[in-house]
Amino acid sequence: MDELPSLRPRLPSPVAELRDDRLNDTGVRVLLKRDDLIHPEIPGNKWRKLKYNVSSARRLGLDTLLTFGGAYSNHIRATAAVGYYGGFKTIGVIRGEEHLPLNPSLAYAAARGMRLTYLDRTTYRAKTSPAVISALHREFGDFYLLPEGGSNKEAVLGCAEIPAELVEPFDVLFCSVGTGGTLAGVAAGLGERQSAVGVPVLKGGAFLEAEIVELQQSAYGSRSGTWRLECHYHFGGYAKRTTELDAFVEEFDKKHGLLLDWVYEAKMMYALFDLVGRGTFAPGTTIVALISGSGEVPEELSR
Ligand SMILES: Cc1ncc(COP(=O)(O)O)c(C=O)c1O
Repeated sequence: MDELPSLRPRLPSPVAELRDDRLNDTGVRVLLKRDDLIHPEIPGNKWRKLKYNVSSARRLGLDTLLTFGGAYSNHIRATAAVGYYGGFKTIGVIRGEEHLPLNPSLAYAAARGMRLTYLDRTTYRAKTSPAVISALHREFGDFYLLPEGGSNKEAVLGCAEIPAELVEPFDVLFCSVGTGGTLAGVAAGLGERQSAVGVPVLKGGAFLEAEIVELQQSAYGSRSGTWRLECHYHFGGYAKRTTELDAFVEEFDKKHGLLLDWVYEAKMMYALFDLVGRGTFAPGTTIVALISGSGEVPEELSR
């Protein structure tokens, strides 16, 4: 996407210190790395993940990007935007049946020129199988395949660039974990004595450890960086919320003027405050919280 300067991404993304009375007496500093501000339509890890994939697609001479996602997928939307601005045709393979009228996310993707197609849930689960991929090739011809969530080797390499943008010294980087591509990359980009903490937003997230190692192996040949998962902050599972989480989001917005994305970043920030409050980090520790998306409805979706 370096070849798309007209998009004017905000890079390096801004960093701001979080001043919060819950941190008083802990001796811990928290900095917010505002990747959500990189681009309104291709924010956060979407930009980071798509960057090297776009270069790969161009190098391979492929003019179509095909990817997978649920009906509310941020990754589907971002891929549609990259196609629109970058001159690629895009195909979104959506889990489940078509529902009309399209929800705002899919309506946006369609307005950005994405062709939408649907797979029933059983077939969708087998979306990485050669049989399903061959059927998609028979239907759509040649395409550059982006996995669900955009997490592959190229995505890991893009996310690995995040730590080097941080000029202020820090010790620990927190990020939320869906597929784990972001954590795989940021952990690999850390310096010595730095570590990353990933907060899975889905239940039973421990299985992601092996997937994250696999992503790092694909990019670097081995596990890379010091990182761990904190699996107890899923609030019931993916896209599940509780009144406690909602209250946390509301209070955070009131105090800091930042509406956290409740599916991902709210769970990560909650975990951060909880772990700091429990004394997990020694006084003097500086923590960076990676904000990959916000809870604000993008202007493009509200039209
Ligand atoms: C806003 C936001 N934060 C975090 C994530 C998690 O990223 P990953 O799938 O790389 O773990 C996503 C994934 O879609 C996201 O949209």
